[in-house]
Amino acid sequence: MKNVIVGQSGGPTAVINSSLLGVYRTAKERGADNVYGMVHGIKGLIDGKVVNLSEVLTCDLDMDLLKRTPSSFLGSCRYKLPEPKEDGNLYKKIFAFLDKLQISAFLYIGGNDSMDTIKKLSDYAEQTKSEIKFIGVPKTIDNDLAVTDHTPGYGSAAKYIAATVKEIIRDGLVYDYPVVSIVEIMGRNAGWLTAAASLAGGEDCEGVDGIYLPERVFDVDKFVADVGSLLKANRSVVIAVSEGVKIADGRYVCELAEHVDYVDAFGHKQLAGTARYLAGRVACKYGVKTRAIELSSLQRCASHIMSRVDMTEAYNAGGAAVKAAFEGRSGQVITLKRVSDDPYMCITEPAPVGLIANIEKKVPPEWITEDGRGVTSELKHYIFPLIQAEIEPLWVDGLPRHIRLMK
Ligand code: F6P
Repeated sequence: MKNVIVGQSGGPTAVINSSLLGVYRTAKERGADNVYGMVHGIKGLIDGKVVNLSEVLTCDLDMDLLKRTPSSFLGSCRYKLPEPKEDGNLYKKIFAFLDKLQISAFLYIGGNDSMDTIKKLSDYAEQTKSEIKFIGVPKTIDNDLAVTDHTPGYGSAAKYIAATVKEIIRDGLVYDYPVVSIVEIMGRNAGWLTAAASLAGGEDCEGVDGIYLPERVFDVDKFVADVGSLLKANRSVVIAVSEGVKIADGRYVCELAEHVDYVDAFGHKQLAGTARYLAGRVACKYGVKTRAIELSSLQRCASHIMSRVDMTEAYNAGGAAVKAAFEGRSGQVITLKRVSDDPYMCITEPAPVGLIANIEKKVPPEWITEDGRGVTSELKHYIFPLIQAEIEPLWVDGLPRHIRLMK
């Protein structure tokens, strides 16, 4: 019996279900008897919550809808597995359950935190001589995974951000009086996603007036002064700022405004409120109209504007993970390797999970402008291929049709 199990973990993306589909189809094509899905990732698996994907994806239309449906079809979790020495019984329980389902390959679609799960389980399998293979499928809008050129999910979020910022720039110029729009973009401690705002500028668009990434220490007074200078020459000022910008003492800017209580299992504080805080400071100082625009979950679930390149790569990463597991590999993560820029081409390549789990890849200093208020053309060239081409939703009654897990 060759059974496969797949889970989705961490924050969702517009294309994470394409990776799920890549896993499902490839496993079936390569002779898997059953492909199970963990409901809410490893946390659900611990509670015995799994579905047989053949019972929920019953026809081609279901699969066409799956790749057009945002968020994690199977549900997600932010759960940190304890070390085996802290809770050996938990590992025995997990492996007993996997053996009961006669699992030969365990695939986990997630970011650097989720790869911690692949690392721990594959290490444990090796120590206990289990035959089960553990492979990670990369995913995150943050694009902060080491080794891989970029992560599935990033291109679609970047496309949404660039398109939305273009629209915000048009809207900001509508009145004959000044408006300051501050757009807050996800990405936690890495500025890759905020950098995508740079793509808005072009022959039909003025572009943003500033881009502030978490890779540089943020100075609130300096920021307010920068906006003041911009207001002298512009009616509309549009700034992109990362949710994760920090001041010199290490506090997030969003913590200056409100007490952030929520911290997840990996110790990450919930980051929100940066734009609102900064807009308040600007309004106080200059008495101008401001807009704080927090893109929040919109930027990671906008499947109506997903990048076809991103979707295809997400699918391929899922397929490559099954292939790697069936070839006998374990403790590895599929990475994307850019082999050509013109024409753009990427291949998949497995890499040891130890090089990726729990590591955050930041925007390199040479891709940030010296004044810390923008990004270089090299960074734009890096992102451009990833946002290319579209895939139409299946429209029903004027709205994109989705598929959901009925359980
Ligand atoms: O890790 C992806 C991400 O979207 C980050 O950009 C963001 O900080 C975080 O997830 C938000 O997580 P949650 O959905 O758990 O609030």
